[in-house]
Amino acid sequence: KWAGPARSGPPLAILIRGGKVVNEDLSFMSDVYIENGKIADIGRNLKVPAGAQIIDATNMLVMPGGIDTHTHMELAFMGTKAVDDFYIGTKAALAGGTTMIMDFVIPQKGTSLLEAYDRWRSTADPKVCCDYSLHVAVTWWGEQVKREMATLAAEQGVNSFKMFMAYKDVFMLSDQELYSAFSQCKEVGAIAQVHAENGDLIAEGAKKMLALGITGPEGHEMCRPEAVEAEATQRAVTIAHAVNCPLYVVHVMSKSAAKVVSNARRDGRVVFGEPIAAGLGTDGTHCWHKDWAHAARFVMGPPLRPDPSTPGYLMDLLANDDLSVTGTDNCTFSVCQKALGKDDFTKIPNGVNGVEDRMSVIWEKGVHSGKMDENRYVAVTSSNAAKIFNFYPQKGRIATGSDADVLVWDPNSTRTISASTHHQAVDYNIFEGMVCHGVPVVTISRGKVVYERGELTVKAGAGRFVPRPPFSEFVYKRVRQREQVGSFCLSSVSPHHTITYSPFRAQ
Ligand code: URP
Ligand code: ZN
Ligand code: ZN
Ligand code: ZN
Repeated sequence: KWAGPARSGPPLAILIRGGKVVNEDLSFMSDVYIENGKIADIGRNLKVPAGAQIIDATNMLVMPGGIDTHTHMELAFMGTKAVDDFYIGTKAALAGGTTMIMDFVIPQKGTSLLEAYDRWRSTADPKVCCDYSLHVAVTWWGEQVKREMATLAAEQGVNSFKMFMAYKDVFMLSDQELYSAFSQCKEVGAIAQVHAENGDLIAEGAKKMLALGITGPEGHEMCRPEAVEAEATQRAVTIAHAVNCPLYVVHVMSKSAAKVVSNARRDGRVVFGEPIAAGLGTDGTHCWHKDWAHAARFVMGPPLRPDPSTPGYLMDLLANDDLSVTGTDNCTFSVCQKALGKDDFTKIPNGVNGVEDRMSVIWEKGVHSGKMDENRYVAVTSSNAAKIFNFYPQKGRIATGSDADVLVWDPNSTRTISASTHHQAVDYNIFEGMVCHGVPVVTISRGKVVYERGELTVKAGAGRFVPRPPFSEFVYKRVRQREQVGSFCLSSVSPHHTITYSPFRAQ
């Protein structure tokens, strides 16, 4: 079989030979031919066009590049700024096998969403080494916000809005505001994302801890135990259901919150849960470490839980589709920045690393452990994100016509994660010393080899913004159908004694 025409000049064509292609639904032995940024052909024994770059993938897996659903590159937050910027952060992503990130535009209360979006675009566009997309946070409510959400969805490729139930007086919305924001998400065909923690309880709990003299990193978790996350998650599920809006719970960090998501799915709700690499790969026991700097590295919100069985539990739920997709919440602050909270844990900038290591951590804890197979791995690291956020199969699949964001993965080699070898700007790594099976060998972004066996060849600005149309079929088909047949309204009355089925209304 002829793979396609040869090109002159620098190789825009790549042939990946002899590997096992892994998609979310099946695996098969095949060559993959890439031309001009797209996957051009898939098949056995493809002929090599003159000038094509050959990659030998014998004994390797050929998978869609990872999609990190949750990053905060160079975010100004808690009095400082995250050290991984869009250049270093996307470079690190590529080194780890991730070929697309989804970052969050977070406007200050009272300010324009559109202006914040423009600012994020002009910061990211010239720096990104891989493709990226943007969620937008709704941090206040008013007619302007409502209007701008519609514009962002219709004209700017944003189909996901994040609402904070925590960070009182900074980003937090009231239940009434959540109701309005979820209603507008539904109206414009977006998915409502929530940071689910009860911000009022956190504020009270923090005061209590400080009054008790607990000022160290451990106080961060102690003032916001699992129930604080689970309660907010349940509240978000309830409010979303009241307006028939699809819901996406970002950074599911506890067993309790994960159970809420899982139960909601079993009750038929259109809800998706996103655990992150940190929550799947490590735990909150580190926050009790006697070395303050060590402990502070692990401070993020919602917190990593001290119950050491949490990561394995979250992985089980991820493997079995109770949880759907993985991000990292990569929001990195150096030890020096973390020291802003040396005497008061409420001032420790919240955030951890993950963008570079997510693919390896999930392979190790998910696939190598035997909890999920390689196909589920592709689903939770790539395909499901593309489906939920509506750019599938442009990305998230090895298929003819899809973007050539491709990862050649060695499932048998191991690597040891360390800050001394990672590509991120942050001066530590929460996964330090973790030995992971599953190593990225070659990363291809937009049809170009950008990482090969330790060597990065990236260019700032080479990545593109990926606009995402509203009304993702994967999310909205069920929502629309329920509206049409009225099952959403009826089921909210009572599942067994609906008006329709009442004998008194039969005529
Ligand atoms: O600790 C965290 N998660 N920092 C980033 C901001 C957020 O809430 O996602
Ligand atoms: Zn958050
Ligand atoms: Zn530790
Ligand atoms: Zn976040």
